[in-house]
Amino acid sequence: MPQSTLQPAGEAAEAIAVLFYWMCAGAVVIWIIVVGLAVYAIYQPGQHHPQTIKRWVIGGGAVFPTIVLTGLLCASLPMMPELQRPAPQGSLQVHVSGVRWWWRISYQIDDETVVETANEIRLPVGRPVEFKLDSEDVIHSFWIPALGGKVDMMPGRQTRLKLHPTRVGTFRGVCAEFCGAAHAQMNFDVVVMPADEFDAWLKQLTRPPASSQEPDATDGEKHFFAVGCHACHAIRGTDAKGSMGPDLTHFGSRPSIAAGLLPNNHDNLVRWITETDRVKPGVDMPAFHTMDRQQAAEIATFLEGLK
Ligand code: CUA
Repeated sequence: MPQSTLQPAGEAAEAIAVLFYWMCAGAVVIWIIVVGLAVYAIYQPGQHHPQTIKRWVIGGGAVFPTIVLTGLLCASLPMMPELQRPAPQGSLQVHVSGVRWWWRISYQIDDETVVETANEIRLPVGRPVEFKLDSEDVIHSFWIPALGGKVDMMPGRQTRLKLHPTRVGTFRGVCAEFCGAAHAQMNFDVVVMPADEFDAWLKQLTRPPASSQEPDATDGEKHFFAVGCHACHAIRGTDAKGSMGPDLTHFGSRPSIAAGLLPNNHDNLVRWITETDRVKPGVDMPAFHTMDRQQAAEIATFLEGLK
């Protein structure tokens, strides 16, 4: 399950899952006791002494919940400083901005180099990572359920989240704070990879894409600039330098399009270009309803070739 808190793939998520299982087991025990008492009360004939009833009400209604809730509080409080502790020096730094309704992602390569991508986060397994989070418009919330807890992303303020992936796999991240029409369609892919594969991927990310030499792709590139896609999207190594929309530099190697909404394949991409507003109502990208189908297909081929 790519989006399950109960199949954790990170240290924080494991701690949270253990706490959940303890709480769940406790709730089951208490439920059995309460139902047992209810059944006993129904089938026990005769009057009870008022003093006995009072003792049950005070004991079961006030003393017992106080003890249980205090116990749970004591069990969960020590987790908080641990979850909030800053990542160790030298950890991978990833900056994520929430934008209605997608994710701008930047990797800090070294002191000077920052590389931007969108809607896809790749991480090395077994290495801590620190996310610096903010928003370009309204409040969003950054959550990768399989890796850890969620943190709000606020305009004008930076929040931080430390995660430590423990298992290789592809997971799903979501926006966990209602942020407008397409809130439920504001997701992203998280790929946790072996460390050496990650290093190779990061190196590749810093390079301009190798674009396809197919004639359709070359025509697609021409259309891309002719209709003005480059005004909003950037593709490093080309004249496309727009920054309003997601960076498309290595678009072809991303698992999904439209912020985790559709699998990244040719048909979906053509549909996204020509029916953007139907696929994701509220989106800022204009739909090219009247675009010639052939032209849209060529743009799609061009984008798929950016790897
Ligand atoms: Cu962004 Cu909900």
